[in-house]
Amino acid sequence: MIRIPHIIAHRGASIEAPENTIAAFRIAQVRGVNWIECDVTLSADEQCVLIHDDTLDRTTNGTGPVHHQDLASLRALDAGAWFSDIYKGERIPTLSETLDTLAALDMGVNLEIKPSGCDAMVLARRVAAEIGNRRDVPILLSSFDADVVAVMAELCPSLDCGWLVEEIPGDWKSRYETLKAAALHVDQKQLTAEKCAEITGEKVPLICYTVNDPDRARLLRSWGVRAIITDNPALMTTAIPPI
Ligand code: G3P
Ligand code: CA
Repeated sequence: MIRIPHIIAHRGASIEAPENTIAAFRIAQVRGVNWIECDVTLSADEQCVLIHDDTLDRTTNGTGPVHHQDLASLRALDAGAWFSDIYKGERIPTLSETLDTLAALDMGVNLEIKPSGCDAMVLARRVAAEIGNRRDVPILLSSFDADVVAVMAELCPSLDCGWLVEEIPGDWKSRYETLKAAALHVDQKQLTAEKCAEITGEKVPLICYTVNDPDRARLLRSWGVRAIITDNPALMTTAIPPI
């Protein structure tokens, strides 16, 4: 599996900058974290863009479904002012812009493929095409969509893809193997010492989201969690040693 750090900034340093923006990614690095997690989906003209929700309302000055707007319309929106006037003018990043920025910053990315509202297979193929053979950014893919996880093993065989789950299914191990996943990404609220032991005992890399409490992060790490995804990289880097 790809070498990942023990702390990954969720949507960038999203506690102090607008999530899924270039500003949030830059601040994550300033706070001492060199990997970010972000969410990629499709515009109406099938371009890869970074945004979490399936609608524009919460994190931009637009309204309605992301997938109803073409790239030019999405790029015209403000994706920073909702968070603070300081970030007025931030744009919805494209995937290629993001990868170029991360390459220049020498950062890595957990790229969550999020087909909320668009065709999952089209998104998977577009992401694979954009990533291509670029080797200038360490990339760990992930998705809640099991079909996407499975197809990424075929579309991007040189990249790892984690399987995201909110709840851990009883048959997680056999499904994980069928999907050819490279890691299990679990909602931290689901994790107990016993559950972590069950997963790590199978030599499955365990990543958890979203942890903003240092005590909880320390506990999860003591249970064998490989990486913590956090909104607050500044707090976590000072609180949690690499081990
Ligand atoms: O990738 C971990 C986490 O980001 C998954 O949940 O809803 O924040 O995308 P969400
Ligand atoms: Ca995400």
